Amino acid sequence: MTNWQKSDWRNKPRVQMPDYTDAAALRAVEGRLASYPPLVFAGEARKLKKQLGAVSRGEAFLLQGGDCAESFSEFGADGIRDTFKVMLQMAMVLTYGAKVPVVKVGRMAGQMAKPRSAPTETVDGVELPSYRGDIINGFDFTAESRIPDPERMSQAYMQAAATLNLLRAFSTGGFANVHEVHKWTLGFTDANEVKKYSDMAARISDTLDFMEAAGLSTDTNHELQTVDFHTSHEALLLEYEEALCRLDSTSGKWLAGSGHMIWIGDRTRQPDGAHVEFCKGVQNPIGLKCGPSMTSGHLKSLMASLNPENEAGRLTLIARFGAGSVGEHLPRLIKAVEEEGANVVWTCDAMHGNTIKSTTGYKTRPFDSVLREVKEFFAVHNAEGTVPGGVHFEMTGKDVTECTGGIRAVTDEDLSSRYHTACDPRLNASQSLELAFLVSEELSARRSKLQQAKAG
Ligand code: PEP
Ligand code: CO
Repeated sequence: MTNWQKSDWRNKPRVQMPDYTDAAALRAVEGRLASYPPLVFAGEARKLKKQLGAVSRGEAFLLQGGDCAESFSEFGADGIRDTFKVMLQMAMVLTYGAKVPVVKVGRMAGQMAKPRSAPTETVDGVELPSYRGDIINGFDFTAESRIPDPERMSQAYMQAAATLNLLRAFSTGGFANVHEVHKWTLGFTDANEVKKYSDMAARISDTLDFMEAAGLSTDTNHELQTVDFHTSHEALLLEYEEALCRLDSTSGKWLAGSGHMIWIGDRTRQPDGAHVEFCKGVQNPIGLKCGPSMTSGHLKSLMASLNPENEAGRLTLIARFGAGSVGEHLPRLIKAVEEEGANVVWTCDAMHGNTIKSTTGYKTRPFDSVLREVKEFFAVHNAEGTVPGGVHFEMTGKDVTECTGGIRAVTDEDLSSRYHTACDPRLNASQSLELAFLVSEELSARRSKLQQAKAG
């Protein structure tokens, strides 16, 4: 991408971005952010790309998860710790089923800008601009709070930097020790719940004990003490992305310095639009949301512009069709990928196609629909002979009540008790872990089938 400039997106049609009214204030913030250090280093993005390359070949599995939207008000060490911890637990359960490394990517340290289905919302007859994430405007339903404020970008940068700092500390400072992670009791206090997973949990426990006995002490073994954890977010607010874009002196290529992996949302993936233009020019791994309206033609043209060199690990296709619809849409997109001989990671966002309104008026997602979409995703890939590379969840380590169902069944009536999301409903810690066990079973069944096919 020789002639690409980080500001080229400004000449393309843009959607889902705010119109800032104070141009001088916007320029001041952009200038400041452009002078600050980037949040990530190019070598890290390349490392993640390499790991995703392994995912594309079925040699690793991708777990991507975190908040729908990180908020300024919920920002704090406990929230970061809890989500990080549940992701490590999920990863351990998935590793058990897949028998391959799990690549861990948080929707964290920058996931603060949201595309919305409508530009305004109406409450009790009052119509105001929609909330677009804390990096853009305020959640409070007042005219003032909904005005896009460029200063919010500064606060978002500071929050992302502090979040990433803590994640790096947890990743290498002993918190990621396998025995620390292995606390299944989290959310699973009821004997029946424990029983449901006891076989797998007991076997993981045994393995850890065996390793300890064999001298692979987790206190001295570096591999078991540290963990690779990367960050990601939707690259929606391009003023912010451009301000943090840096030229990497090692490779001579541009880097989105805002996070390791960035993705393009289902509403902003126009092949000639601003978001695709920006992502084209940076070397980070790129995610692309694929919803029901994605045609084979669009996908082919997006793959050509986002990954012209067909680099493995560069492009992750995030399928999000909704339970019951995967069979209708995924096969044609898999066919498009196969026809192009494209290297991609296929992953399943089992959240965004399954949002409904509960009988009590809350936006929710039934656990069963989430699980069903994952199962359909696996079934289609198993039938097509392609690789189901990963899963993508909106989840939190907190004990919220935002999605219904799960073994500690959250009902429509329970939703009001701990509904804290700034945007879409998230799986709570217990639901996330339960899902990991169920996905692990899918992975394990797939592995047995592949082995049988090889042997026979
Ligand atoms: C999201 O991931 O939060 C999101 C808005 O997804 P999508 O673009 O797939 O709707
Ligand atoms: Co969301």
